[in-house]
Amino acid sequence: MIDFHCHILPAIDDGSQSMEQSLELARQSVEEGTTHIVTTPHGGRDDLLKQLAKREEALAALRAKLAEEKIPLQLISGMELRADGEFWKAVQEAPECRCGVDKGEERPLLLEIPLNMDISLAADVYFKAQLKGVKIVLAHPERYEGFVRNADMLLSLLDRGIVLQFNASSLQRGFLFFNSVPKTILKLIAHAPDQIVLGSDAHHPEYRPAGFTSAQEYVIKRLGEEVWRQMTETTPRKLLGLE
Ligand SMILES: [Fe+2]
Repeated sequence: MIDFHCHILPAIDDGSQSMEQSLELARQSVEEGTTHIVTTPHGGRDDLLKQLAKREEALAALRAKLAEEKIPLQLISGMELRADGEFWKAVQEAPECRCGVDKGEERPLLLEIPLNMDISLAADVYFKAQLKGVKIVLAHPERYEGFVRNADMLLSLLDRGIVLQFNASSLQRGFLFFNSVPKTILKLIAHAPDQIVLGSDAHHPEYRPAGFTSAQEYVIKRLGEEVWRQMTETTPRKLLGLE
């Protein structure tokens, strides 16, 4: 399984604060069946080059430690980019802020809109990206205000080709939000299962842990194994150039 969104790199953002925490997140992931993690530290246009340099350093250090500890987990470079007004310029200035191993133009940006914004902004962000020829994966749309209310808008964005990344923690029993959130997520997955990826958005082994287990049970029970494989294996592989 491929975790498309994870703050596992040590001491680079508000995620893991140390190598020990990163290793703990790595062990959690492997225990739950994750084979690949896209490392997605927060970044924005203002601090992009600095953040990319820090990411390279942290990636190399964590890869070396995983090898030393014999933890079978592949790390793929990525970033969770803040969508400011001209986010697409980041791709022109520093294409390595995109996610994946392929050097081609097709690699996507994992984009987050500011958390205090309404999800209806997503349409605007997506059209801008399309105009500039930038492929985007929209990070955790279910975390924004108006998610359930704007389900039809998100369905029509799926029809236009957007890829949505949901957080595994939004799809499990005992989920904190109202029940309508996971139901709306299921509806969107069922509409376009090949345009959905899943992330743990893990930040801390205890408070925001890694792994997909609860979501796996929830999704397979309602949509079947094939859909689960599509969103955690087939689609992310293709997007990341892992084939
Ligand atoms: Fe995140």
